[in-house]
Amino acid sequence: MKHACTIATLMATINTIFFVTLIEALFLIFALPFAIIYWRKLYAKKRAERTQNGTVVAFFHPYCNAGGGGERVLWAAINAIQTKYANVHIAVYTGDLEADPEQILKRAEKAFNIKLKPNIQFVYLHRRKWVEADMYPYFTLLGQSLGSVWLGFEALDSLQPDIYIDTMGYAFTYPLFKYIGGCKVGSYTHYPTISTDMLKHVYRRVVSHNNRRIIARNPFLSAGKIFYYKLFALLYGWTGRCADTVMVNSSWTEDHINSIWKCPLRTHRIYPPCDVEHLTKLPLLKDEDKRDSIRIVSVGQFRPEKGHPLMLRAMYNLRSIVKEEVWEKIRLVLIGSCRNAEDEGRVKDMQDLAKHLALDENVEFKLNIPYPELVSELQQGTIGLHAMWNEHFGIGVVECMAAGLLMIAHASGGPRADIIETQTSSQTGFLADEAEEYAEVIKHIINMNPQDKNTIRNAARASVNRFSGAQFEKEFLRAIEPFFRQKQE
Ligand SMILES: *[C@@H]1O[C@H](CO)[C@@H](O)[C@H](O)[C@H]1NC(C)=O
Ligand SMILES: *[C@@H]1O[C@H](CO)[C@@H](O)[C@H](O)[C@H]1NC(C)=O
Repeated sequence: MKHACTIATLMATINTIFFVTLIEALFLIFALPFAIIYWRKLYAKKRAERTQNGTVVAFFHPYCNAGGGGERVLWAAINAIQTKYANVHIAVYTGDLEADPEQILKRAEKAFNIKLKPNIQFVYLHRRKWVEADMYPYFTLLGQSLGSVWLGFEALDSLQPDIYIDTMGYAFTYPLFKYIGGCKVGSYTHYPTISTDMLKHVYRRVVSHNNRRIIARNPFLSAGKIFYYKLFALLYGWTGRCADTVMVNSSWTEDHINSIWKCPLRTHRIYPPCDVEHLTKLPLLKDEDKRDSIRIVSVGQFRPEKGHPLMLRAMYNLRSIVKEEVWEKIRLVLIGSCRNAEDEGRVKDMQDLAKHLALDENVEFKLNIPYPELVSELQQGTIGLHAMWNEHFGIGVVECMAAGLLMIAHASGGPRADIIETQTSSQTGFLADEAEEYAEVIKHIINMNPQDKNTIRNAARASVNRFSGAQFEKEFLRAIEPFFRQKQE
C-alpha cells in the first residue's frame, strides 16, 4: 500500500517536471519573438536619444590592451577611419577594466607606432569572464560563444552604434547587433572558431588539444562529439553570414571561413599590417661586404614546429655537394628568442645535433639579441631560411624578404599560398620541402650571378609592400566604404 503511494508521488513529480519544462519551452518559443521586437524598439529609441553626434562606429575588442597582432589590426583600422572620416564618432568595447583610455592609447602607440587621435570613447564591459575558456570545462566552444552573446548584450545596452565592427572573431554577436541593434555589421577574422581540421580530428579519432583521449577512444562519445561539432558549425555559419562585410587575415583563414560561412562574395582577404616599411628602406649590402662569408639566416623561436632539425639536415646535405672552400665560408645563423627552461633545452638539443652532424663550425646561435643587432644580421645575410611545415602565415618570411634576403621557405601553408612567388618571370623567392631539396636550392643560390640575385631581391622587396600598413588601411577602408555611403544617402 505504502509502495504504491510512493510510486504515485514519483509519477506526479515527473509529470510536474515535464509540465513545467513544456510550459517553459512554449514560453521561450512564443515569447522570444516578442522579446526581440521589444528589444529592437527599445534600442532604436535609445539610439535616437543618443548624445554622440554623427555616425557612431563601435569596435568590439574585449582584449584591446593586449598588444598582440590582433590589436595591431584594431588600432590600424581605427587610425584609417580617423584619417578618412574626421566626423565619425569612434568607440571601443573593452573588458580591460584596469586600464584607463590614456594608458591604452599610449600602449598602442608604443607597441605599434600608431598615433591615434584621443577622441575615442572606451565602453567598459564587466562580463568579459563569460568568454574565457576556463569557465567551461565541457562544451567550451558553445559556452564561450553563448558567453559572447551575453557580453555583446552588455555592449549593446551601453552604446548603440550605427556600424559595428568585430575584430576578435566573436561571430555569435553579429545577429544580436544586426537584428536587435539594427547596426551594419563588419567582421575581421583572424582564426575560425571551428575549422574543418578540428572535425577531422574527431572523425579519425586522434587525440589532440580539442579532443580528449577518453572521447577519441570511445566510438559513442566520438559520434556524439561529431554531432555537437556539426551543430556548432551550422550555428557558426549562420551567425557569420549575418555580417555585411567579412574580412579575413590570410588565405588559410579565407578557405576555412568560406567553407563554413559560405558567403565568398562578401569575403575580402586583407592581410594584417606588418612593419615592413623601415626594413625595405635598408640599403642592400654587396656580397663582398658581408664579412667574406655566405650567411644563411633563420629567425624564429626555438619551438618544435619551427623545424630547426630540418635546417641542420639541409646543411649536412649541402656539405656533400659544395666544394670545401665554399663550405668554409657558409654560416647558418639561427636567431631566436629563448624564453624559458624548455626553450633552453631545445637550443641545447640543436647544438648537440649540430655537433653530431659535424656542423658546429658552421652554425651560430644568436639568442635573445636586441632589435638593432637583428637588423644588422639580416643585412649581413645572403639567404633567409624558413622550415616550418604548414605555417598559417609567416611574418618572419615577410620580414626577411623586406630586409633583402633571398628567401627559401617551406613549400606549404602561408609561405606558399600568400607570400612567395616562384614563377621565373616574377620570382620573389624559393620553396623547398626535404633536406636534399633545401641543400640544392642553397647551392643554386650560391652559384647565381649577382644580377639575377638582385632581380629576385628587388622583386621580393617590392612584393612585400602588399603586407604594409598603408596597404591594409587602403583595403580596409574599401571593404567598409559601403557602410558610410548608405549612411550619407
Ligand atoms: C554635438 O553637437 C552639438 C552642436 O552641433 C554640440 O553642442 C555638442 O557638444 C556635440 N556633442 C558631442 C557629444 O560632441
Ligand atoms: C591570422 O591570424 C592567425 C591567428 O592569430 C595567425 O596564426 C596568422 O599568422 C594570421 N595571419 C596573418 C597573415 O597574420
